[in-house]
Amino acid sequence: MTVARIALAGLAVLAACGSGSNGGSTDAGYVASVGTDDAKDAACLTCHTDVAKDWAHLSSHRLLLGCTGCHAVQAGTPGKGHASVPACTSCHSQTTHQSLACTACHQQHGSANAFLFREQLALPNGGTATVHLTAPEGATPDGLAHDGKGACEVCHDSTTHYDSAGTGTPHETGWCIDCHSHTDGFAPPAPQ
Ligand code: HEC
Ligand code: HEC
Ligand code: HEC
Ligand code: HEC
Ligand code: HEC
Ligand code: HEC
Repeated sequence: MTVARIALAGLAVLAACGSGSNGGSTDAGYVASVGTDDAKDAACLTCHTDVAKDWAHLSSHRLLLGCTGCHAVQAGTPGKGHASVPACTSCHSQTTHQSLACTACHQQHGSANAFLFREQLALPNGGTATVHLTAPEGATPDGLAHDGKGACEVCHDSTTHYDSAGTGTPHETGWCIDCHSHTDGFAPPAPQ
């Protein structure tokens, strides 16, 4: 099984962002060891209480960046526009799937799921679905596909494999990403 490594625009990102702050911890020693600043993030969270629930989950964003590693505070008092909002692609080189926003699948502030994958998806054709994804596995209960409820199934109305009804014809059950690469927007591989 190959788990694709993150592709960043450049190591300069880490150099530029590594001095950022970081959030309240379930493992204070580890958080301290990667140079984070709980107090600065806690100050942001006193107002942004809606972010706190997601931020409580450890993530590479929290450990490496902290709030101000992504949101540069602009001059002025707190209010609309007082902090910048970066594009995901200012740091990452992945391409998206089916014209979706990166945040259609990812919650950048943290998630109970692996890969910062959202716990709730807004489906392209309306409604929402709760998604469980905790292991880098293909068609397994903790992986990308299970009974139509997996991360690679819930949105699909009309695919021949892995649709939301769980009725897709049999297909490969391994790590989907080995063939449907994130850098190709999860499209099927070109025929050999
Ligand atoms: C990895 C970069 C990153 C980090 C770290 C980060 N954010 Fe964000 N944040 C974003 C992006 C990108 C958006 C815009 C999301 C969108 O377009 O839906 C956003 C959106 C927001 C918003 C707008 C409302 C919302 O929830 O979408 C607030 C408020 C916010 N962030 C606060 C914070 C705070 C407070 C922290 C630290 C506890 C933090 N962010 C850490 C990238 C980050
Ligand atoms: C005193 C309260 C307060 C504090 C502290 C605070 N903010 Fe805000 N922030 C606000 C308000 C109010 C808004 C506007 C919300 C809205 O438009 O709905 C806002 C908006 C934002 C947005 C959305 C930007 C936009 O307008 O598109 C981000 C991102 C953000 N804050 C990040 C931060 C970060 C990072 C910190 C810590 C360095 C922080 N905030 C500290 C009150 C605060
Ligand atoms: C300021 C730079 C920056 C921005 C902006 C940023 N990221 Fe990241 N992201 C990082 C870094 C650094 C890592 C950790 C790199 C590593 O693990 O090698 C990371 C890791 C990730 C991971 C892997 C997390 C895991 O635990 O497996 C995902 C998914 C991700 N980012 C998605 C996003 C999305 C979606 C956005 C926009 C909403 C975004 N990022 C915005 C810098 C950024
Ligand atoms: C259809 C859902 C979906 C969309 C849309 C999506 N991602 Fe992902 N992303 C995933 C899944 C699933 C994983 C875990 C599998 C993997 O490693 O590719 C992942 C993993 C990642 C990672 C971890 C590194 C890696 O490749 O393993 C990064 C970084 C990332 N995504 C960034 C982005 C960015 C940036 C966008 C928008 C351009 C985006 N994603 C759009 C589903 C999505
Ligand atoms: C947020 C919604 C969403 C998620 C999550 C999602 N897809 Fe899709 N996908 C779509 C839509 C919309 C279509 C168009 C066909 C349809 O609706 O059934 C599609 C079609 C496809 C297709 C066929 C067309 C194409 O783009 O090549 C493949 C292959 C595919 N998805 C793979 C995946 C894989 C692999 C994952 C998990 C990593 C995934 N999808 C997760 C929305 C999604
Ligand atoms: C060994 C390579 C491989 C693996 C692993 C794999 N796929 Fe595919 N997938 C393909 C190929 C090749 C196609 C295009 C031919 C076809 O439709 O059978 C495809 C097509 C698809 C389609 C689109 C069918 C359509 O209607 O156009 C979806 C959705 C899909 N795969 C989802 C998944 C999911 C979810 C997983 C993981 C559980 C997965 N695949 C694992 C190779 C793979």
